[in-house]
Amino acid sequence: MERLRGKTLLVGVTGGIAAYKAAELVRLLSRSGAGVQVVMTRAAQQFITPLTLQALSGRPVLTDLFDLGLESEIGHIQAARSAHAVIVAPATANVLAKMAAGIADDYLTTVLLATEAPVIVCPAMNTKMYAHAATQDNLNVLKRRGVIVVEPQTGSLACGEEGPGRLADLSLIVETACQALTPQTLRGKRVVVSAGPTWEPFDPVRFVTNPSSGKMGFALAREASRRGADVHLVTGPTALADPPFVTTYRVTTAREMEHVMKGLAEDAHVVIMAAAVSDYRPEETAPQKLKKKDTDLVIRLVRNPDILAGLGAEKQPGRILVGFAAETEQLLQNASEKLRKKNLDLIVANDLTQPGAGFRCDTNVVKILDRAGGVEELPCLSKEETACRILDRIEALALST
Ligand code: CTP
Repeated sequence: MERLRGKTLLVGVTGGIAAYKAAELVRLLSRSGAGVQVVMTRAAQQFITPLTLQALSGRPVLTDLFDLGLESEIGHIQAARSAHAVIVAPATANVLAKMAAGIADDYLTTVLLATEAPVIVCPAMNTKMYAHAATQDNLNVLKRRGVIVVEPQTGSLACGEEGPGRLADLSLIVETACQALTPQTLRGKRVVVSAGPTWEPFDPVRFVTNPSSGKMGFALAREASRRGADVHLVTGPTALADPPFVTTYRVTTAREMEHVMKGLAEDAHVVIMAAAVSDYRPEETAPQKLKKKDTDLVIRLVRNPDILAGLGAEKQPGRILVGFAAETEQLLQNASEKLRKKNLDLIVANDLTQPGAGFRCDTNVVKILDRAGGVEELPCLSKEETACRILDRIEALALST
């Protein structure tokens, strides 16, 4: 995950049964390219050993405030200073209480007082302890001070009870860290993104489609959300999970997508059509599976609405409209024609014949065209990085309008 690359994250592990999940969290963060420094409380070491977290983070785990060897090299103040973000996962009721009261009686709580970096706490505990007024009051105090709380999930807990108290999904914790490290340049903006293919059925089990994976649109939605936007993602059928913090609408056909997009676009500041919409649909959809006959089968296709052209025709001043152009020839000419015809502010041109570009892969090679005839050529980048560059251009437009 590009956003975490090169960042130093301090992961505080406290003494609850969910401490074992910290191992996977540390692995995920390290694999994202972050340097992870683990700090464990004494109680946490009853649940999982420092050796495990040291092996996964590649750094000695900080446990003892008065360990002369480690303190002379690292120092809790230096650890607090060098962190770009601090994540406490799991956070017990006890550590939340200490944080709220400003108690600093071990390595972790000392670092938490000394750091100026964003602090993310991920409570995990018994349902009753979580619901207790003391814990809720402490969480409110922490929220008021700007601590980011990743609320626990509801489910069956290790203690045998059901209810809120399970450590949040690790992907949600990682995404929260990404967001905390991203300047909130799109806060207050509503961004609508479309993604994926559409399916145009001709019987209940068969349809006309294309190989779009949805990855580019999902990357745009995720990045816009990291930048603080209120993001709505309208996607055709894909294998991808809903991105965290994004409102996702699952549709199947172009006409369904058009309906949802039109409604959402009305009060959007930015609309990005990254979906690979089928231009045609079978004229008829058979109510039952078509049976094979001895003769050939002819399916007549009729035109689908051009969703983006419709949005362009009704474009309000100040709304930024961005399209994609998937081409196999005359890339710039075709793309600039689409930009003009569909009344767009930007068009992202994809040469589908180029290696590393377009459908299905994790990278893309695009050119960004604007209304003034400018062309920005991007190298082969991950779809995540491509999304960042597209959003940088959208932000620049938003500032100039
Ligand atoms: N698009 C759309 N509705 C359609 C077809 C395309 O909203 N029925 C949008 C796509 O999401 C994309 C842009 O229009 O942002 C261009 O799509 P593309 O498939 O490249 O081009 P088309 O306009 O369909 O033209 P052609 O197929 O002739 O290249």
